[in-house]
Amino acid sequence: MSSAYLWVKAFHVVAMVAWFAGLFYIFRLFVYHVQQRHEPAVVATLVIMERRLMRAIMAPAMIVTIALGSTMLFMQPALLRMPWMHLKLGAVVLLLAYHGFASVTRKRFARGDYFLSETACRAINEVPTLLLIAIVVAVIVRVP
Ligand code: HEM
Repeated sequence: MSSAYLWVKAFHVVAMVAWFAGLFYIFRLFVYHVQQRHEPAVVATLVIMERRLMRAIMAPAMIVTIALGSTMLFMQPALLRMPWMHLKLGAVVLLLAYHGFASVTRKRFARGDYFLSETACRAINEVPTLLLIAIVVAVIVRVP
């Protein structure tokens, strides 16, 4: 494995950690947002926090994670035939859907449209943990 490949992999993991920092936190903010929906000053602060988390941290980290991951697939296309990479990329598609749903939720909550309950936000908040476990086990243990 070339050192260039290892540098790409190292920053791929760094970007993935930054993305997950946001993925783990965004629905936690939505829980507080639903709880405090009758407090205009708190809501105004949460709207700013949610927007900055998604635009300044999650979106750039997601783009860098995918760009560097795709670069490694370009450098090692044989990985695309590995069942563990299929599981990983499947879980990544679900992560992208989760990110997209968080973006939709952010915009609707910012308009005062609380279409999700506090309990629903808490349950949804558990999804990234399950996907992280599936991805890391797939790519490190290389199963299946
Ligand atoms: C479209 C998105 C992604 C693509 C195309 C991708 C692709 C890759 C590739 C090709 C490797 C190198 C495998 C190797 O040579 O051993 C890799 C390594 C890795 N990826 Fe991703 N990845 C993506 C997203 C993610 C995400 C979301 C995570 C979050 C958990 C992640 C975690 C890792 C880890 C921990 C490694 C290092 C594994 C090792 O040390 O061998 N990747 N990724």
